[in-house]
Amino acid sequence: MIEPPGLNSLMMVPAVVLAVAAMAALVWLGAHVVRYVAAGKQARPVLRAAWRIKYTWRRTARRVGLVQIERRRPPIWSSTPCTTVITRELLPAITVHRERWGVRVDASTVGRLGLKEFTDAAGHLADVWRVPLVRVEQTQPGRVRLRALLSDPLTEPSTWTDMSGDPAVWAAGIDADGQPVTIRSAGVSGVVVAGLAGYGKTSFLNVRFCQLAPSAAVQFVLIDGKGGPDYDDLFTRAWLSAKDDPQLVRDHLARVRDLMVARQQTIRAVLGVKNMWHVGPSAFWPLVVVVIDEAHTFLNETKGTDAESKRLDALARETARLTEELIRKGRNVGIQVVLATQKATGDAIPTRIRDNCQVAVSFAQRTSEAATAALGSDISGFPDEHPRRLQDPAYVGVASMVAEGRPGFTLVRTPYVPDAVADRIAAQTADLVRDPIGLLTACEVRADA
Ligand SMILES: Nc1ncnc2c1ncn2[C@@H]1O[C@H](COP(=O)(O)OP(=O)(O)OP(=O)(O)O)[C@@H](O)[C@H]1O
Ligand SMILES: [Mg+2]
Repeated sequence: MIEPPGLNSLMMVPAVVLAVAAMAALVWLGAHVVRYVAAGKQARPVLRAAWRIKYTWRRTARRVGLVQIERRRPPIWSSTPCTTVITRELLPAITVHRERWGVRVDASTVGRLGLKEFTDAAGHLADVWRVPLVRVEQTQPGRVRLRALLSDPLTEPSTWTDMSGDPAVWAAGIDADGQPVTIRSAGVSGVVVAGLAGYGKTSFLNVRFCQLAPSAAVQFVLIDGKGGPDYDDLFTRAWLSAKDDPQLVRDHLARVRDLMVARQQTIRAVLGVKNMWHVGPSAFWPLVVVVIDEAHTFLNETKGTDAESKRLDALARETARLTEELIRKGRNVGIQVVLATQKATGDAIPTRIRDNCQVAVSFAQRTSEAATAALGSDISGFPDEHPRRLQDPAYVGVASMVAEGRPGFTLVRTPYVPDAVADRIAAQTADLVRDPIGLLTACEVRADA
């Protein structure tokens, strides 16, 4: 016969439950303490923030308005009268992950709480979570990703180490999560690099030069409108080079145009394709990268009335026409023009040139107008990636761009190549310089044979 439990044993039940709960709490606390100690000094602030976010989420969501109240009738099987209105609080579910730079929070959207509402709440979340910045993006339908950044990785300068480069890929740097970012180069005939003075345009082109210089499949035309020493040592690796001499620049571009025309006439016979990028550049048919730094120097008409101004205006018109033609027609024969300028507005770079460039990169800008001129009007829809945000010495070397395989715009920390390294690479690869017109003639002879 089973005896009914006595009063004493009934009282034991809550005591046992309490003891088990206390044990579980102790284990939980112990595990957290172990993790905290094991995390190391640098990772601890991230761990603290991750716990704060995770364990206060319900309260935080309510306080910053990331909650939706649902009103509905009781279900048909419920004993509650069907006239009663039941209210229910809907909070976005989250998962929290630690990252090198801070905490990644993946949240589910709920009802009318989507990307916009999370973005609007980002500032408040940063305050509650006590982090300098919260960034928000939509990763997939129904999922929003928040990044609580304890330190902005974009403000940490990096030095380029990997110098080997594929002409078809432009390794631009790393994004806010430390992930590598590339921009399109294959099939690209025009690139605009814009930004305020001293924010990293020339250094960005230096890195590209260092990536490509060791390749025999690339020849350079280097033009420096500033006329200073920036490119002096790189000229040794250039097929053609010039400083701020408008006539020489016009002559060089006319020569590149001759190359383009000759290549157009022979590409089928020599490469067997209509588009060089289908087979890729080679030592016999190199990609010709035409860098024009401070490009506005050569494209601006002064509209003066004296003889010298008229001569310069005629040169500027011709240079603009040649530049436009190279960008418009050079893609399939492997000619790529890279224009760097402090100002990408129509008064500095003719819009017919700028708007034909497939790739645009912008370092810091002072006005929305300048950012729109460089990146197009879409940038106004990306306040976090807007180049106006980059007006701070900490963001020297950080640019906004459309990266390969990523929606919208991406902020990229571009690496820095010390001048001495770039100079050494130029000197070591100087013997790779060839005249692409001469190479073409050699190819034609071989094709005929
Ligand atoms: N990616 C980078 N990381 C760290 N520092 C950088 C980076 N790029 C540039 N700098 C620093 O900023 C300085 C100016 O850079 P740079 O000459 O490339 O600017 P710029 O935009 O070409 O300016 P300007 O319009 O006057 O020619 C460099 O000498 C270097 O000290
Ligand atoms: Mg410069």
